[in-house]
Amino acid sequence: MSQSVEDLPLAWLRDNCPCPRCRDPRNGQKLFQITELPPDLALDAVRRTDDGVEVDWAPDGHRSTYSARWLTANAPGAGGGPGDRRSENGKTLWTAAELNGRLPEASWTEYLSDPVVKARVLESVLGLGFALLREVPCREGQVFEVAETFGYVRETNYGRLFDVRVEPDPNNLAFTGARITPHTDNPYRDPVPTLQLLHCLTNGAAGGDSGLVDGFKAAALLRAEDPEAFALLTRTQVPFRFGDAHTELAADRPLIDVDGLGRIREVRFNNRSIGTLLLPADELDSFYRAYRTFAEITLRPELQLEFRLLPGDCLIFDNVRLLHARTAFEESGARHLQGAYADLDALTGTLAVLRRQRAVAGDEFVDGLAELFEGEGADAYLGEQVTMAQHMLQAAAHAEEAGAPDALVVAALLHDLGHFHGPVSGAELMEEGIDNRHSHTGADRLAEWFGPEVTEPVRLHVAAKRYLCAVEPDYFGRLSPASVHTLEAQGGPMSPAEVAEYEANPYAADGVAVRRWDDEAKDPEAPAPEFAHFRPLLTGLLRTGQ
Ligand code: OGA
Ligand code: ZN
Ligand code: ZN
Repeated sequence: MSQSVEDLPLAWLRDNCPCPRCRDPRNGQKLFQITELPPDLALDAVRRTDDGVEVDWAPDGHRSTYSARWLTANAPGAGGGPGDRRSENGKTLWTAAELNGRLPEASWTEYLSDPVVKARVLESVLGLGFALLREVPCREGQVFEVAETFGYVRETNYGRLFDVRVEPDPNNLAFTGARITPHTDNPYRDPVPTLQLLHCLTNGAAGGDSGLVDGFKAAALLRAEDPEAFALLTRTQVPFRFGDAHTELAADRPLIDVDGLGRIREVRFNNRSIGTLLLPADELDSFYRAYRTFAEITLRPELQLEFRLLPGDCLIFDNVRLLHARTAFEESGARHLQGAYADLDALTGTLAVLRRQRAVAGDEFVDGLAELFEGEGADAYLGEQVTMAQHMLQAAAHAEEAGAPDALVVAALLHDLGHFHGPVSGAELMEEGIDNRHSHTGADRLAEWFGPEVTEPVRLHVAAKRYLCAVEPDYFGRLSPASVHTLEAQGGPMSPAEVAEYEANPYAADGVAVRRWDDEAKDPEAPAPEFAHFRPLLTGLLRTGQ
């Protein structure tokens, strides 16, 4: 606790009382009004406990308990102020060169099957303003399925879905072959849809390439280069208008919206739908100067991220941050996108839930490993003098003593995981002299939770034995009898061609390192730390999608 309870603002402290009379334990919601708290709150008694503090309040005698963890996490000033995920705060503002050739993208099947990939995609939408899903099935209406993986479609006068293709009597320039410069969609709505999806079904026309501009970056440049123009655009209400036979939409909002702390929070920019400003003449002059300056920034070549949507691509982007564009295309050619609007709040929430679930699953995974070490791990290890658990803990201890990076210590700790569990990779098979491919099964089981820096040295630790037998004359002589016995089943020493192939693997050296700790970890007398000692290392390396 950085601050003593006595110094904390009392109304704030009491408002956050977690007791079941103040908050419904079933849902955490508050059960009282701020007006029901005594205006003259005071601390009657404060008692430190093992886990935090207990407070008796005057004048009403209420008792509150606050955990040390809560007090630290919520200390006034902790966390750098309001955590609004909408503002520029904490986002990566970009120019085209920073993303060219490195678009945030994933395949649809990976996105659906791997929660870490999904989290990465959603995080890109929040942090960079967009992500691109590839190989989304080219079916009409598929864009709904994409939207439903993180939120809800926002229906508008264009429908639940809109077709972007050439139409005979277009109510919007989007439905022609015309070039469309960087813009926000639907700025004439209040609220403006915060997300847009564009799913490409066909793109066979000449032209029709896509462009994205980071509108926050453009606004930040304006703020740096012409602060007065920036300020003017944050306070001038611009009339955005849309009308057709059945629709009249109007919203009067600034081109750049800032939050209470002056941080850029929304950009609305669309040359097609700005109506007639009604302002005194001198204000009109300064507005038009600032508007032009901002427009010129949005058109700077270095801000234009250009790419071509291919059939199956689905672009998901923050419509109140990024400006999107397309080049003109041949109206006789086939080009068909399906679009939908959705909102950021649901996407942000979906990501938070995904992370929460992943954190719980990660804890369970590590608990499961701990149980394996205690349970099956106590079994003998293939005719060695040590148990499986002793062997792996000793290997990890050697890695740690050698100052190896965390990932290699974890690889050493888990290198024989493939020996655990189940008939396919059972130790019995191994004793019969059949290679159980335990290095591969172990690595594959670890891949859900660790990156290649852990899985690949595990995968290579058997090959590394065969490699060392081939390249180090006295290595074979140092192998334990059991290890010599299994060598044959594993393929014997490597041939020169296999040696070359092994050495080409980027994890070759790590595989050899794990192998050497493996060989040293068969001493029945050697002390080794408990599994719990390595737990923080494991937890720190889990792929959580953060
Ligand atoms: C739109 C639009 C982009 C495109 O429909 O508003 O910007 O690539 N379309 O056609
Ligand atoms: Zn558009
Ligand atoms: Zn081993």
